[in-house]
Amino acid sequence: AAPTIDLPGGASIPALGLGTWPLDDDEAATAVEQAVAAGYRLFDTAENYGNEAGVGEGIRRSGIERDQVFITTKFNKKWHSVDGVRRAFEQSAAKLGVDYIDLLLVHWPNPDQDRYLDAVKGLVSLREEGLLKAIGVSNFKPHHLQRLLDDGLVPDVNQVQLDPRHTRADSREFHAQHGIVTESWSPLGKGGNLLQDPAVDLLADKYGMTPAQIVLRWHLQLGLVAIPKSANPLRIKQNINLFGFELTQDEVDSLSALDTGDDDITDSDSFGH
Ligand code: A2P
Repeated sequence: AAPTIDLPGGASIPALGLGTWPLDDDEAATAVEQAVAAGYRLFDTAENYGNEAGVGEGIRRSGIERDQVFITTKFNKKWHSVDGVRRAFEQSAAKLGVDYIDLLLVHWPNPDQDRYLDAVKGLVSLREEGLLKAIGVSNFKPHHLQRLLDDGLVPDVNQVQLDPRHTRADSREFHAQHGIVTESWSPLGKGGNLLQDPAVDLLADKYGMTPAQIVLRWHLQLGLVAIPKSANPLRIKQNINLFGFELTQDEVDSLSALDTGDDDITDSDSFGH
């Protein structure tokens, strides 16, 4: 199992979890069940992925107790109001088959409609009622977060696309200043050619680990929560087998130096992740 990281609101989150985009319900149920057996305790889904029912099914099939797993889901922009968030919660909880959700996120800031402040206010109420353990946002830039902070609203996490080619140093520093935990989506660079990068391969050879394990170790050593997606049983196991080696600070830095300066995602869309 992975160590946990304390959140500013008082809950704690496993440092490593399973991403589930773009799995369908059946694929998600199978992957989640395998992941529980491999030691995963954090599962990440979204209304938009259409697989919350499958994630819930996989957890039930695994036989693990509800309070031993940490479930994150996210809601779409149509729910960006104080009342809307409650309906988003009810809908996701019903699909997951749970009576509380560990972490509920505003999926995108959607500055086009500019109602994310109300959405976060709704999250705070649900947390006060015990229906959520933690609250957060996803794909927010520091200027979006600043508006929350100005209103006294502190999200526990901001989940952003982050990997050695998109290191988001500005976001990480801003989050750290305010106690917000950074979560990395697509931590493996979507399984693309980051995993063939010579700097990654060099360390994989040195430690006798796979390129994916080297990249995930980089996330952990930066204090990030990483949620690699895999539907392959061997890679699911591999991606949580990270706790027998440690990169040096120079090696962590050599991976951070792969940053391209590109954002990769747009500010306001709500597709995919
Ligand atoms: P698969 O599901 O066949 O394992 P990310 O989480 O960064 O978006 O990356 C997900 C992609 O990376 C998926 O295509 C997944 O494919 C692939 N992937 C996941 N784990 C590994 C691994 N250990 N080695 C290589 N590719 C991986």
